[in-house]
This record gives sequence, structure tokens and C-alpha cells, in this order.
Amino acid sequence: MDGSVKERTNPKSAKTGSAIADRDTPLIKDCWYVLDWSAEVSNELKNRMVLGQDLVYFRDQEGEVCALQNRCAHRCFPLHRSNLLENDTIQCGYHGLIYNTSGQCVKIPSAPDKKTSGIKVQKYPVVDRAPMIWVWPGDPEKADPALIPDYDWVNTKEWGYGHGYYHLDGNYLAIHENLMDITHFSFLHGSALGTPGHAESKIDVTIEGSVVDNYRINHGEHVPDLHRDYMGIGFAPVTRDSHSKFMTPGFHYAYSLYMDPAGTIDGRKDYRLRILHFISPETQYTTNYWWMFARDFKPEDKKASQFYSDTTLDVFREDGDAIEWMEQQWANEDRPDFQETHVPADKGAVEMRRIIKRMAEEENIQPK
Ligand code: FES
Ligand SMILES: [Fe+2]
Repeated sequence: MDGSVKERTNPKSAKTGSAIADRDTPLIKDCWYVLDWSAEVSNELKNRMVLGQDLVYFRDQEGEVCALQNRCAHRCFPLHRSNLLENDTIQCGYHGLIYNTSGQCVKIPSAPDKKTSGIKVQKYPVVDRAPMIWVWPGDPEKADPALIPDYDWVNTKEWGYGHGYYHLDGNYLAIHENLMDITHFSFLHGSALGTPGHAESKIDVTIEGSVVDNYRINHGEHVPDLHRDYMGIGFAPVTRDSHSKFMTPGFHYAYSLYMDPAGTIDGRKDYRLRILHFISPETQYTTNYWWMFARDFKPEDKKASQFYSDTTLDVFREDGDAIEWMEQQWANEDRPDFQETHVPADKGAVEMRRIIKRMAEEENIQPK
């Protein structure tokens, strides 16, 4: 994926005054977003941009993850290029101001007697829920950990998973929309995920609060190529029952049940897949994206997990390429009157965009 989108200076909006969110709709701050894999955060300073705010983060000696504004209050030096001291404080690499894990400055080396109480950097709410770390970029008062999706089941021996990550030059809504729209399986991914009848099957959309569920069922087709080896049922006809659910601006949950009525392998009739998509806007037009592709068949087979890590990266890259190519059309082409056409299969995605538009409007209401 090339980075040409970053060069643009005049991004075009989809449509002003639209009832549904588009790539220019303000990002939703009051939401949990994935910051990193838990296993990749240690007692070393890292940084990542979330919703246009650069964060420095690390795991302290108690094992807690701390995330702070990555900009020294003195002259903006990036704190991730500074020194993490033994007592879990960060000493700025420019003039040496020291900050504790609350973001409070505790020492000014050039003025050791001066009070530091008025000098601080922003601290962000963080939750470490293996295998992911979550951050809340909005109002800390609203950062309720109960709003983080429950995926503790991935850590049990009943489930195995492949996983992956990439950075994308595109607005985060395009990833959500891609995930809501499984008619693209057959055309963008070919036989890896698609089957001849899949794009044509009826879609039911249900909305509960701010959750939008796309549901479809296919009868009598074989499993897609991606799962053939490890599911092991060859070309046996199955019933494929699939959901793709917009949960929050930072999380999409997809799950499928494949039913093999013949019980081809040892009489087993049910095979489950659950795919967790973690979508964190980096800026308005760039996104960090992680996923876990979990299965309840051969859960402890490490080769199967590696296979799913490798193959889902290949397949999801096709989505990433498509999103980046579309983003380049939005960003670079001079066609100001363009308006998207919606087809019936977009119903879930359009509802999702309506919900995000409403969230953005609610967040941007200024207090009197
Ligand atoms: S910029 Fe950090 S101490 Fe001066
Ligand atoms: Fe896809």
C-alpha cells in the first residue's frame, strides 16, 4: 500500500449536510479504541497517534499500562524519545522535566525549588484486557471499562486464533463499511471467502440501540477455500449462517456457524468462526487496524493459528488496498458533485453511518 493519500492538501467531502457519516465526519472521542497488543507493551516507551492525539505509553513496574500526552509541557519535545527512569517517571529528553504516571511534573532540573503543581501532561484512561490494550481519548469521566467488548473466551482452550495488524491510508468508516458489506467477498476475495451463492443471499438487518447486525444464511454450498484444510470437510454441502455486527466506532464483530448435517468428520456438525476487528482512527484519514480470527476447530493447533494469521493478512490486505484506492479517488480527484449510490445490500452500512453521524453530532454539541 503506498502512502500517496498522505500528500493531499485538499480532501474533498462526500456530501455536506448528509444524514449519514462520511470521511469528513468528526471522529468519535467518547469510545474505547485499541492502542496495542498487550504483549507488545513493556517497560519501554512507545508512541501511537489516536484520533489525532499522539500518546506515549509503557508498562510500569507494577504491570499497569500508562498512557500520557506525548508532548512535553515545556517545549513540546516528544516524550517517547525521552528516558523512562527506574521509578516509572519519564524525564524529558530536552531540558529534563520529570513527569510521573499521572502526567504530573514532579521536577524541573534547572529550577529545583520551583513548584511544579501547575505543570502537567494529559493522562488517558487505559484498560489492559489481554490480548489487547484499550484507550479512551474522550472525556475521562465517561470511560467505563464495562463498555469494552467481552472477548475473554479467546483466552480459553476451546478457541484458537490467528491475528494480524496493518496501518491504512483511509478513513476508519471505510473499514466498518467493508466489514458490514459481505457482498464484496465473491468479487474482491474470489473463492477464498466467496462462494457462488453468497453475494446473492438475502440480508436481514436488525438494529438494537447503536448495534447494527447484518445476517444472512446460505444453504447447500461448500465451505470457502480458506477453511477447507483445517475444517477438513472437503466439499460437503453446509449451511453457512453469518453475522457481521457494528458494535462501536472502534469495534466490529463478525461470527459464522457452518453446519455440516452429514457429520463428515466424526459426526461433528457445527464449526464456529468469530472475527474481532479493532479499528482505531489514527487521524481523520488514516487508521490502525488489528484483528483476531478465532475458530473452535483444531483450537490448539499452532500451525492452524499461523495459517489463519498468514491467510487473513493476505485477504484483509485486499480490503486495505480497495479502501486505499477509494480514498485516493476521494482525496485526489476533482469531482465535487459526486454522490454515492446506495444499493439494497448497503442497508446495514448506511444504518451504521447514520448512527455514527448522530454520535458525532451529540459529541459536538457545545455546552451552554
Ligand atoms: S521540552 Fe521538555 S523539558 Fe524542555
Ligand atoms: Fe473483505
